[in-house]
Amino acid sequence: MSLLGVTKGTDLEKQIDQIAVLESQAVTMYTGMAILAREQGYDDVADYLTALAADEARHAGLYAVLNGHIKSDFFEVLKTVESLESGSVKKLQEFAQKIRSLGLAHAAQAVEEAALDEGRHGSILKEIVETYCK
Ligand SMILES: [Fe+2]
Ligand SMILES: [Fe+2]
Repeated sequence: MSLLGVTKGTDLEKQIDQIAVLESQAVTMYTGMAILAREQGYDDVADYLTALAADEARHAGLYAVLNGHIKSDFFEVLKTVESLESGSVKKLQEFAQKIRSLGLAHAAQAVEEAALDEGRHGSILKEIVETYCK
């Protein structure tokens, strides 16, 4: 039985949306702390925090599904998201140049690495769409 939308329209809908926001904030918080932990040489702590962030991301997704915020035909959504992911690479690289122009080469490099991640996301989604959306 699907979890999709089962709490939508119930007395719990608003509370579940609020929990979803907290879960998303937890993803940001733990991931940010993991970055700092790694910078400060606590690689083991960084790994734990990254794992916690993955749990919180899963929870955020769960609550989004419960309240029906995810489309049942997610392949259709992935077609759109694929081009957004791929298209964001160049924009982020240009943005990284702006960061570099502030004299923040280290931050610019980190954003360029994120840009490469977005390209990889786009490639993965493209392969999924080509495989399953014939
Ligand atoms: Fe959580
Ligand atoms: Fe992405």
